[in-house]
Amino acid sequence: MRVLILGATSPIARLLAGRFAQDGASLYLAARDSGEAQRIANDLAVRNGVDALSGRFDAADFSSHGEFVQRVVSELGGLDGVVLAFGTLGDEDAAQVAPGAALSTIHQNFTGAVSLLTLLARILETQKHGFFIVIGSVAGDRGRARNYVYGSAKAALHAFTQGLRGRTERSGVHVMTVKLGTVDTRMTWGREGAMLTVSPESAADRIYAAYRRRAEVVYVPWYWRPIMGALKLIPERLFKRTNF
Ligand SMILES: NC(=O)c1ccc[n+]([C@@H]2O[C@H](COP(=O)([O-])OP(=O)(O)OC[C@H]3O[C@@H](n4cnc5c(N)ncnc54)[C@H](OP(=O)(O)O)[C@@H]3O)[C@@H](O)[C@H]2O)c1
Repeated sequence: MRVLILGATSPIARLLAGRFAQDGASLYLAARDSGEAQRIANDLAVRNGVDALSGRFDAADFSSHGEFVQRVVSELGGLDGVVLAFGTLGDEDAAQVAPGAALSTIHQNFTGAVSLLTLLARILETQKHGFFIVIGSVAGDRGRARNYVYGSAKAALHAFTQGLRGRTERSGVHVMTVKLGTVDTRMTWGREGAMLTVSPESAADRIYAAYRRRAEVVYVPWYWRPIMGALKLIPERLFKRTNF
């Protein structure tokens, strides 16, 4: 099996790549920081005795995506699955007042994903097999004053992958949407809300287990489903006054 990991320098993505490598998959680790991606690839190759390639991509550099995808498929000798793990909280304070910062957050979490998923889906759909694991966020379940620019990008990503799942299912291509709760990574470093935070290892294990059972939409950990279900029931006129 040949798997492309987008955003491979995320600790969650790196651990997921490790799970695939343990199961014998060949990997292509892609990140903006190609040096770090290469170090991770070398480590996985040595530890697991698999082929692990690496390369650079930038989610927000749309015009480079076509060539990037071609290069990945040619170097891997085909493609069976994609883990889309890139994303950023960005500077939410700036994004709420400056359109440039807002669009940057949207591009790095949503528009870049649309561009890459569209190119990659064509390949998997044509060959009639493959899978996508797309990492979204519980922040996409309801717009909150604190992080609605990031949250709206993830909400759009959830809707996009939901539609993609419906389209590609007929071709035997499976799409799994991960609604991730708080994980202890550099993205959340120094932020409050540690009580429900899980380690990247725990997140990766749960995501991989969900992939193995071909889940469609999975909350990670599971308790975010009832939490977000309850949050969504709060009437808007009350919700807008809360500080969740
Ligand atoms: N940590 C959490 O609590 C949490 C909660 C819900 C969802 N998530 C989601 O989980 C995923 C992984 O995040 P993480 O927590 O592991 O944070 P992270 O360590 O900051 O990883 C984010 C990854 O996205 C990459 N990235 C950001 N902008 C990019 C761009 N323009 N082009 C290419 N790659 C880009 C980063 O690469 P660089 O090294 O080049 O910056 C990095 O590999 C993200 O989609 C995030 O939204 C995280």
